Amino acid sequence: MCGIVGYVGLPSVGEHQALDVVMEGLRRLEYRGYDSAGVAIVADGDIEMRKKAGKLANLAGEIEHHPLKDSLTGIGHTRWATHGGPTDANAHPHLADGDKLAVIHNGIIENFAEIKKSLLEKGHTFKSETDTEVAAVLLGDIYNGAGNKDLTKSMQLASQQLEGAFTLLAIHADQPGVVVAARRNSPLVVGLGEGENFLGSDVSGFIDFTRRAVELGQDQIVTITPETHTITDFFGNPASGKEFTVDWDAAAAEKDGYESFMEKEINEQPHAVADTLLGRSDANGKLTLDELRIDPEELAKITKIIVLACGTSAYAGQVAKYAIEHWCRIPVEVELSHEFRYRDPIVDPSTLIVSISQSGETMDTLMAVRYAKEQGAKTLSICNTNGSTIPRESDAVLYTHAGPEIAVASTKAFLAQITATYLLGLYLAQIRGNLFSGEIKDILADLGDIPAKIQDVLDRSEQIKELARSMSDAESVLFLGRHVGFPVAMEGALKLKELAYIHAEGFAAGELKHGPIALIDEGKPVFVVVPSPRGRHSMHSKVVSNIQEVRARGAKTLVIAEENDEAVKQFAEWVFYVPETKTLLMPLLATVPLQIFACELARQKGYDVDQPRNLAKSVTVE
Ligand code: F6R
Repeated sequence: MCGIVGYVGLPSVGEHQALDVVMEGLRRLEYRGYDSAGVAIVADGDIEMRKKAGKLANLAGEIEHHPLKDSLTGIGHTRWATHGGPTDANAHPHLADGDKLAVIHNGIIENFAEIKKSLLEKGHTFKSETDTEVAAVLLGDIYNGAGNKDLTKSMQLASQQLEGAFTLLAIHADQPGVVVAARRNSPLVVGLGEGENFLGSDVSGFIDFTRRAVELGQDQIVTITPETHTITDFFGNPASGKEFTVDWDAAAAEKDGYESFMEKEINEQPHAVADTLLGRSDANGKLTLDELRIDPEELAKITKIIVLACGTSAYAGQVAKYAIEHWCRIPVEVELSHEFRYRDPIVDPSTLIVSISQSGETMDTLMAVRYAKEQGAKTLSICNTNGSTIPRESDAVLYTHAGPEIAVASTKAFLAQITATYLLGLYLAQIRGNLFSGEIKDILADLGDIPAKIQDVLDRSEQIKELARSMSDAESVLFLGRHVGFPVAMEGALKLKELAYIHAEGFAAGELKHGPIALIDEGKPVFVVVPSPRGRHSMHSKVVSNIQEVRARGAKTLVIAEENDEAVKQFAEWVFYVPETKTLLMPLLATVPLQIFACELARQKGYDVDQPRNLAKSVTVE
């Protein structure tokens, strides 16, 4: 949520100009918010600024008409609006100190109203409705008083007064070659170059220029110059960050010939699953999750798992519940992070909290993890983003290796999350002795076959796209599933809502007769995820009955079933077959056609599938 970039360089460093570096960083971070964008640079003893409501392209157009001077110090921002609508005036940067100070911000400053009041009493004025301008004016006020023209010191003093979540970046006209930043409960990483340094909300903000990065800790200030980065706490005490190397490059974050990141990411799913499995078991099928950083003996003693996540990641958790309870005989609760800490949950040292987050920055999940930690629980993060806050603050981490997910709606991260939770479940079963090694080996072998089976689904995507094209005027679509098919149905509905802006609901098929069946009328499209007719837990015949029930009431039944399931054919208007696999692994295949359907339908309607309206990737406010 909100993308932030900062840059300082020496004149001798290549052809880099601050504006080019910052705009490139914003292009890569635009998925974090696209309500407005803005840049500011230090040039000839002044701040020059351009900002514009709407997508980054509007800002680029503005800069083309009103070019900026050359500069080696700059900051840039792409906004997801919180305080104040998406207007030019509310766009960042915000200026203060006689327009000599420029500030950008991600997060929400909770005590901005009282600070604003005291600044108004001191005679300061404001041009926008934002909490960010309050931080800028406060910083300017301190810079000219207590901070004594020292931007770092002023940022430390200002940060001590601010409450809530913030990443703040500031440049001052009198201090070329310096960008100062503060971080509390909001993401920020430093990028280290040769004779140039960078700041970004995440590493994509500078991935074109360097893969060396530094994670900042909570409540830290960092000052970058072309050759140094200095970290302190809010009180000026020296502090340090953790250096790491980004394990993907700029090419991985390009569209690679696809029309959209979403299509590219859907097509990358065989790799997302394969890479998440890679190196995590030996030839005998023994899981070796050494990276977990948690003592297997402690893990063996847990009595309950609570999965904390939001949105698509929570659906991955719901899929995991079926598998982990079945394999490990440990109760698993799946809780939306934002509900968790407000209901007085029962958590103790024998509880394992498993947070699932693609970004590792979702504020609701971060706060829930912190709360659980305070209650004494062990915390394990399943995350796709190296150097992000949730894994850093957790006792243990299991990274998904889906690669950078740029499209706002999650696809490949979902399959990678399911894969990682399955690895965790099998590992728990291994250390607790719930499954024999041969059983684990067999399941791992089935998982190993999944990437090729996903590829098989992708190779037949034209059948799904054709259906989507024929349904572009649908106003409401329902999704039904049982067992692991239930979270798949909810994920299919979520994808359709957020990409194509069509009303969609996912239901447990068994719940149908308890109310939702009233929604069925003539021609209502209903997707049904049909479990395998084989397998011990088959609910096949029950789901086939559900298909007949909705069909009898006029529904248009669209069925995702397993290859060779001839029985469903007679009850379906349309069938898409996925390759055979174990019931628990079916979500890794059955989700894919639903993603393709939503993406194609949205494309057909002319919508931007990478940046759906009102959304942002990485929701860093509660
Ligand atoms: C939906 C989607 C969101 C995210 C949710 C959690 O397509 O992308 O529902 O899954 O905002 O985000 P992370 O996984 O980053 O915590």
